[in-house]
Amino acid sequence: MKKLVLLTGAGMSAESGFSTFRDSQGLWEKHSVEDVATPEGWERNPDMVTDFYNSLRHDLITGKPNQGHYDVAALENDYEVVVVTQNVDDLHERAGSTNVIHLHGELMKMCSTRNPNDPRYIRTLQPEEWEVPRGTMCEDGSLLRPWIVFFGEPVPNLDAAAREVSEADALLIVGTSLVVYPAASLIHYVKSDAPVLLVDPKPVQVNSSRHVEVIQDVASKGVAKAAELLKRML
Ligand code: APR
Repeated sequence: MKKLVLLTGAGMSAESGFSTFRDSQGLWEKHSVEDVATPEGWERNPDMVTDFYNSLRHDLITGKPNQGHYDVAALENDYEVVVVTQNVDDLHERAGSTNVIHLHGELMKMCSTRNPNDPRYIRTLQPEEWEVPRGTMCEDGSLLRPWIVFFGEPVPNLDAAAREVSEADALLIVGTSLVVYPAASLIHYVKSDAPVLLVDPKPVQVNSSRHVEVIQDVASKGVAKAAELLKRML
């Protein structure tokens, strides 16, 4: 079976009702990144950060995957699929994708403030636990914090993601502005003879000289179009 790797971003979940980060009315227009997505912001005001991710988590448990997520999951019928996502939602998994690598953490997981990537302290919240009380402590004695990769923190699964992309027979990029590194650098790991396709309703600046097959459409329609194209390419 040919191997297809996807790199997805916030646009994948836009039609599920979740704001992207950099579109107009995006998340970063309403909230300061420094306050809610940096280690300093967490240290400065953990209650506000806890409230912020609680509200995102509430939206997530009431939201649902869109057609784009289901079309991504259906690709597993024809390919060995790995979904590398920058998204912290679990919509790919809820739509049926079975091999998802989260680069920026997961909203339904919490970790230790002192040792964010220590697996002993990473715990998965059940949907009914979406509202984490302010000041909840971790077993290691530090504050329990969202398992979100804050800006400036290392991306825990980057090597695994790069390896998957380097082995891919094709890369399908969906719903990301490709402005955040190191995620955006993954395109450089694609084999020279592997096609790269990109689904986005708007033009995306791709920092690579290689040819990218652009499907200028939303995820709920564009992923299916990309699947058709891939049948002819692979
Ligand atoms: N279908 C597909 N793509 C869409 C849709 C849609 N319905 N709506 C918007 N988009 C596209 C936008 O055109 C844009 O190119 O999705 C992209 C969203 O870009 P960003 O908002 O920058 O989100 P993303 O690329 O995922 O951001 C990367 O930045 O802030 C950090 O950690 C955060 O993971 C995030 C990272």
